Amino acid sequence: MDIDAASLQNALCLFESGDIDRMEVGTTRGLQQIHAYLFDGLYDFAGQLREVNLAKGNFRFANCLYLKEILAVIEKMPESSFAEIIAKYVEMNIAHPFREGNGRATRIWLDMMLKRSLRRVVDWQHIDREAYLQAMERSPVNDLELRALLEPQLTDKINDREVIFKGIEQSYFYEGYKK
Ligand SMILES: Nc1ncnc2c1ncn2[C@@H]1O[C@H](COP(=O)(O)OP(=O)(O)O)[C@@H](O)[C@H]1O
Ligand SMILES: [Mg+2]
Repeated sequence: MDIDAASLQNALCLFESGDIDRMEVGTTRGLQQIHAYLFDGLYDFAGQLREVNLAKGNFRFANCLYLKEILAVIEKMPESSFAEIIAKYVEMNIAHPFREGNGRATRIWLDMMLKRSLRRVVDWQHIDREAYLQAMERSPVNDLELRALLEPQLTDKINDREVIFKGIEQSYFYEGYKK
């Protein structure tokens, strides 16, 4: 089994087992816990902050020299409304704390904030891959497009297996994984 397939199994297990309820919500530590769970034994940096600089497309993520300081500020950002939670998610994406696996880990982290504050999660299976990646690419400048894409897909079916498992598969599909 390759790394992505093994990690997908870990992600499904995170919810199936109920271990997700033991992860901190909205903190750097919580995101590291999720990342460690998804990539334990698969990447030697599972759960560990990166010490290299990273770029995707034309965008360079936060400089690793001040990553810790940035994360300390981001985790204090409020998360009581949808707009606040998306703003926090966008900043965490810009921080991009890990060498790989940021997209998959941080979408779960996002859902846990939405679940706790709003009793909603994103129904990812209905969000198109290209539209999502384009909205993320634009998000450091303006998060309006991302909010417009995600808000109509908020669902109160927060404990629905189909919503959770199809959502995780979709999240892995965004990052190139094919069944
Ligand atoms: N040009 C970009 N600008 C900002 N964010 C981006 C850009 N391209 C990709 N992203 C974000 O980075 C994520 C991918 O990061 P990565 O560490 O490779 O995660 P994963 O390994 O789970 O795919 C995407 O899901 C998206 O949220
Ligand atoms: Mg990747």
